[in-house]
Amino acid sequence: MGSVFFFSPGLSLEFMCGGRKLRLGSVGPEDRERISEGLNHMSPESIRNRFLGSKSGFTDEELSELTELDGRNHYAIGVEEISAKRGVAVIRLARSLEDPAEAEVAITIVDGYQKQKLGTLLLGLLILAATERKVASLSFTFLPTNEGIQKLVAKFGHPSRGANTQDTRQLLLDLGQLDLALLKERLVPCLPEIGNFHLET
Ligand SMILES: CC(C)(COP(=O)(O)OP(=O)(O)OC[C@H]1O[C@@H](n2cnc3c(N)ncnc32)[C@H](O)[C@@H]1OP(=O)(O)O)[C@@H](O)C(=O)NCCC(=O)NCCS
Repeated sequence: MGSVFFFSPGLSLEFMCGGRKLRLGSVGPEDRERISEGLNHMSPESIRNRFLGSKSGFTDEELSELTELDGRNHYAIGVEEISAKRGVAVIRLARSLEDPAEAEVAITIVDGYQKQKLGTLLLGLLILAATERKVASLSFTFLPTNEGIQKLVAKFGHPSRGANTQDTRQLLLDLGQLDLALLKERLVPCLPEIGNFHLET
């Protein structure tokens, strides 16, 4: 039987970013190498921001966790630069074990592609994927100095503050308050074709 989701293993969309042709799709076991290699294109600051600490490589177990996803409770969208066949971005959603209506989001854009609206595109699409999966609230955990993620999340609504630790901050984005017109406004400059769709959640 096929997947019940639009954001499923068959997802494949080509688009332009920074003059290069990129393809986005759902992350799967075939992406181990791309994800592992992607770390080589991240600055120490980006690595710290993503992993809340340093990271020099992934173990086999970590790569399995990052790529062997059930598609419902754990789902990720990856972006590949087509000509170089290299991974340039990934955004992932992990449903909370305590509350199935909540999910944690983590996002990585490699340094050469930051500030080109790729994060905006991926978060907009992940919000749609989350609503398909009946996720009502997204949480983002980050270092207090990470201005980029705070600006990115605020592009999609008015996040509230979640639990803070000594080293990290958390933002919560309520998808029940989702403004579809705003979502479309954010996505169209990145992916003009989406303007032709009637977005529904
Ligand atoms: C944070 C991150 C996801 C942003 O992605 P991006 O593709 O650069 O974001 P966009 O280009 O879509 O920009 C979204 C907004 O954030 C702003 N922004 C992005 N990076 C910024 C930075 N480092 N400092 C300040 N503002 C930043 C942009 O200017 C834009 O705002 P605007 O539309 O008002 O101009 C990306 O920098 C990244 O992957 N960083 C490393 C990993 C990380 O921090 N992950 C988050 C924790 S899980």
